[in-house]
Amino acid sequence: MSWKSFPKVELHLHLEGAAPPAFIRGLAAEKKIDLTGVFDEHGHYAYRDFDHFLKVYEAATEALKTPEDFKRLTQAVLEELAEHNVVYAETFVSPDFCGGGDVGAWREYLAAMEEAHVEGVTLKGIITCIRHFGPEQAKTAAICAAETKGDFIRGFGIAGAELVGQGRDYAWSFDCAREAGLRLTAHAGEWGAPDTIRATWKDLGVERLGHGVRAAEDPKLVDDLAEAGVVLEVCPGSNVALGIYPDVSKHPIARLRDAGVKVTVSTDDPPFFHATMTKEFENLERAFQWGAEDFDALNRTALDAAFCDDDTKARVAKQLDEAPK
Ligand code: ADE
Ligand code: ZN
Repeated sequence: MSWKSFPKVELHLHLEGAAPPAFIRGLAAEKKIDLTGVFDEHGHYAYRDFDHFLKVYEAATEALKTPEDFKRLTQAVLEELAEHNVVYAETFVSPDFCGGGDVGAWREYLAAMEEAHVEGVTLKGIITCIRHFGPEQAKTAAICAAETKGDFIRGFGIAGAELVGQGRDYAWSFDCAREAGLRLTAHAGEWGAPDTIRATWKDLGVERLGHGVRAAEDPKLVDDLAEAGVVLEVCPGSNVALGIYPDVSKHPIARLRDAGVKVTVSTDDPPFFHATMTKEFENLERAFQWGAEDFDALNRTALDAAFCDDDTKARVAKQLDEAPK
């Protein structure tokens, strides 16, 4: 069946990674920016592997220059969320791609993003530093985060090449964000082995992990994550597209859930992976026979783990309760 009209909550969505290819091509044409190598002959994003994906991702962001560009991007992303009945989403935003980490410039980009609006969809932001840009640049992202915490910016995290450096290299940035009252998440266990997941979790003191799926290789870590209530932002379609698992039926999300780990489902960078939240649900139904009760539980786990305030949670919970299913 189609799960399109079923309400959804998504916690792991990179704003630039959600940019439709045609949108990026349009901006590049307006600004006469050469994006050779970014798209294949069908107009889709073209990449060979994860490292190349990161390069193509960063090349595509070259077309996003001004706060107005980010307002248009945010509007396009909200419309796509509405199309799939995502009623609440959290999106990763990076000062590195918006004014190069300058707090004054960042405020202008942020104000522009906040102007985008689609009725019925609530969007909150998590500032991410980019791991392969190094710990010093991460500090500027953390300072931007601490300075702009508010109704929209709720959290801080880290994305990028997970196998670069050690989690603890970024501890200053996470401490800075925590002291500012931000909630914390980190990409770990997409590429990294269980020992690095544990190290990132403990060294950065995060309450959620981006992906975290390789934890399934270590039963003790699975138990510890379950016991501590750490929430995994699982992106099955992304993991399959990047070759971590051959198909969704081999993905560990069901095993993790059945072992008591709090799992949620997201799309990560939807157009890069030909993903939508509807397709994620459809693939999970096909692979594991998950149905309305399972998807409702995923939504509730995600909303519980969301970084928004309690009033927003109550409003979104009501939307989930009242949505036609
Ligand atoms: N940035 C955008 N998508 C990412 C992913 N899947 N892993 C790490 N960093 C990312
Ligand atoms: Zn991600």
